[in-house]
Amino acid sequence: MEQKPISKAVIARLPRYYRHLGELMEEGVERISSNDLSLRMKVTASQIRQDLNNFGGFGQQGYGYNVKYLYTEIAKIMGVDRQHNLIIIGAGNLGQAIANYANFERRGFLIKGMFDINPRLIGRVVRGAEIMGVENLEKFIVDHDVQIAALTIPKTKAPEIADRLVAAGIKAIWNFAHTDLVVPDDVVVENVHLSESLMRLSYRVCSMQDEKERREKVQESGMAGKGKGERR
Ligand code: NAI
Repeated sequence: MEQKPISKAVIARLPRYYRHLGELMEEGVERISSNDLSLRMKVTASQIRQDLNNFGGFGQQGYGYNVKYLYTEIAKIMGVDRQHNLIIIGAGNLGQAIANYANFERRGFLIKGMFDINPRLIGRVVRGAEIMGVENLEKFIVDHDVQIAALTIPKTKAPEIADRLVAAGIKAIWNFAHTDLVVPDDVVVENVHLSESLMRLSYRVCSMQDEKERREKVQESGMAGKGKGERR
């Protein structure tokens, strides 16, 4: 299939398409129109058509989208039809929570090992992934063909570890440390910051409240104005 460069905005939406299509398959739905998918996903049908047209348009006029085909194609585009070997640096609360989440394996992300500097953690095993000392990092990456490293360590330690990861050949960093990493162009970083997401939520809920209060004030002043008018 011929592929044009896909915008970041479209790529950011792909996991959501993938999740909904996976659910549709579980429900036994074989095909779906852009309108029905739009109702389900609460985005416009034209957005769906535009997004999916990026990949050569999987839909057919009058037929809609073949759910399984679309699901498989999106999996290929996102690379979740392949196996990715992953390590976690920092086996504290967050690192262990990630290691304990079984669903990543179903998406092809295999957690091969974890690394920490705390001697009390070293040697423990979390869902099959052993916690090792960071001195073993480089050798482990090469021996286990590791492509992705999750960074769940304090932000002050993250740049140094990131440099070591890059030097050892890591091409993707899933960064949970609250710092912006500087890496070469051929290394990709995906920042995941729950607090930033929470701040965006805070902004939205505050704007809704402010808007509600503004409307109430306008309504009140309107009613007060009417009252004055009536008295005159
Ligand atoms: P934690 O203190 O439970 O775990 C951190 C672990 O990193 C510890 O086990 C520690 O021994 C280890 N560590 C420290 N320096 C290291 C190094 N140089 N190499 C390898 N391991 C090292 O902390 P928690 O709660 O798991 O959080 C980890 C990091 O993730 C923190 O920086 C926190 O701010 C961040 N965080 C980010 C979130 C996000 O949404 N991005 C959400 C929660 C935490």
